[in-house]
Amino acid sequence: MTAAAPSAAQGSRGGRGPRPNPRHVAIIMDGNGRWAKKRFLPRAMGHKKGVEAVRALVRSLRDNPVEALTLYAFSTENWGRPADEIADLTALMKHFIRNDLDEIAEAGVRLKIVGDHSAFDEEAVALIDGAVTRTAGNTGTTLAIALNYGAQAEIVRAARAAAAEGEITEEAIARHLDTADMPPLDLLIRTSGEVRLSNFLLWQAAYAELYFTDVLWPDFTPAHFAEALDHFAGRERRYGGR
Ligand code: FPP
Repeated sequence: MTAAAPSAAQGSRGGRGPRPNPRHVAIIMDGNGRWAKKRFLPRAMGHKKGVEAVRALVRSLRDNPVEALTLYAFSTENWGRPADEIADLTALMKHFIRNDLDEIAEAGVRLKIVGDHSAFDEEAVALIDGAVTRTAGNTGTTLAIALNYGAQAEIVRAARAAAAEGEITEEAIARHLDTADMPPLDLLIRTSGEVRLSNFLLWQAAYAELYFTDVLWPDFTPAHFAEALDHFAGRERRYGGR
């Protein structure tokens, strides 16, 4: 007996019938601090391991392709954290770009920022802008990093822009959101056992599946991501009559 080759619709883990991947997945990467605390390590170590989890996840998109992945890296509320933690997070972002941009660019990933990254230091802004420009023509996964992002402020900005153009409609607001050029959000994952949206993609989450896991972000592996995709594929989605 020969095994049939998986069809395109079955994806790389075929054999279980049609298994559509979500087009756009977003993740609230929570639990870095608790991961460090459990090990009597400084919080910065939790964030460092968190970046490693990001790197592994982005690499794994070769096997679990999605059109877009949005990661909540820094919220508008995060400015309230101690200055040294903000400095650690900024340094990690810079290091990530310096260290990983070649690989990301060569993998065909298009890097994008949601939120207003101009609030970070000059060097970070230049690195981010350079990375976005360099990958702008890529046609693989869109990797959106949410930086200095808050959904309520985003919706207010979009509503103002829509009003300035004429009528405030759902379509007009959606057109002015930071995610306007991305597919609709299908799946929103939050790690670390917290069951909140924390001002992340509130408009975009309107019809998204929500997936909460107790795994702390630094422990979140591509296998956990695949589990979330499986969960998504197995669930019948209802659009409230739409
Ligand atoms: C939440 O953990 C995590 C953050 C506030 C930062 C997430 C950022 C990263 C993983 C780095 C992102 C970098 C790139 C390059 C995308 P927490 O500190 O709130 O954890 P706790 O709730 O356990 O204290």
